[in-house]
Amino acid sequence: VVVTGASSGLGLAVAEAMAREGARLAIVARREAPLRAAAERLRSAGAAEVFALPADLDDDGQRRTAWRTAVAALGPPAAVVVNTGNPVGGFVVDPDHAAYADGWVKMRQVMDLDRLAAEAMAGGGAVVNVLSRTAVEPDPDLLVSSWVRAGLLAYAKAVSLRWAARGVRVLSVLPGLTRTAAVDAGLAARAATAGASLDAQAAAEGRAVPLGRLGDMASFGRLVAFLASPACDYVTGSAVRFDGGAVRSV
Ligand SMILES: NC(=O)c1ccc[n+]([C@@H]2O[C@H](COP(=O)([O-])OP(=O)(O)OC[C@H]3O[C@@H](n4cnc5c(N)ncnc54)[C@H](OP(=O)(O)O)[C@@H]3O)[C@@H](O)[C@H]2O)c1
Repeated sequence: VVVTGASSGLGLAVAEAMAREGARLAIVARREAPLRAAAERLRSAGAAEVFALPADLDDDGQRRTAWRTAVAALGPPAAVVVNTGNPVGGFVVDPDHAAYADGWVKMRQVMDLDRLAAEAMAGGGAVVNVLSRTAVEPDPDLLVSSWVRAGLLAYAKAVSLRWAARGVRVLSVLPGLTRTAAVDAGLAARAATAGASLDAQAAAEGRAVPLGRLGDMASFGRLVAFLASPACDYVTGSAVRFDGGAVRSV
C-alpha cells in the first residue's frame, strides 16, 4: 500500500489502520524527520515493512521519482491512498492569484498519482483519493478547495468507469472537520478568542454536527482501510462522506 501525505493527520491515520492489518507500506511526505518518526510508529503498530520516501509531491520530478522508488520497493501496489496538503483557504476570486496555481498543482498531483497507480496495479486494486466535504458542499471560505475537490470528484468517477475493466477501483472520501494537529491548532485559536479550553471548543463545534462531535482520525483511518481492502471489492466510483451527517444533501 502506498499512502501519500502520511507523516501526520489523516494520511498517518490511514497508514496506521493499514499497519494494524500487517500491510507493507510506502509512505511519502516532504519533511524527513516526521516521516521517519511516522515510519517507526507504523512498524510498532504492526506493519510488515515500511519504506519512508521523503518527496515534495507538488513537484513533478520528485513525485515520479518517489513513485518509481515505491513500486520498486513494494512491487505492484494493492492500494494507493492519495492525500495532499491543504489548498489555500479563503474567498479568493482572482484566477491569477497564486492560490489557483497551487490548486491546479494539487489537482494535477492527484490525477497523476491515480494514473500511475492504475497503470502499476497488477490484476486490480484500489485507488482512494482523500478530498473534502467541499467537493459536494462548496464553501466560499474554502473556494480553491471547493473547485479542486469538485473537479477531482468528477475525474475519479469518470476514470473509475474505464479502469473497472482492469479491476481497478477508484473511490473518493469526503471528510468534514476531523481533529488532526492542524485542525486542533485552528480550534485552539478560536478557543483562545472565546476564552474556552480546546476540549470545550471542540465540543461546542461538534454540537453543530448531526452526530454531535467532530471527526476522529482513527475512525477515518479505519474507513479508508476498509474501502481500500478486498472486503469492499464491489464498490467503485463512489464518494464516501466522513462528516457525522453534516452535509445535508442526499
Ligand atoms: N482534517 C480535516 O478536518 C480535513 C477535512 C477535509 C479535508 N481535509 C483534507 O485532507 C488532507 C489532509 O489533511 P490533514 O488535516 O491530515 O493535514 P496535515 O495534518 O497537515 O497533513 C498533511 C500531510 O501531507 C504532507 N504533505 C503536505 N504537502 C505535501 C507535499 N507537497 N508533498 C508531500 N507531502 C505533503 C504533510 O507532511 P509535510 O508537511 O512534511 O510534507 C503531512 O504528512 C488535506 O488535503 C485537507 O485539506 C482535511
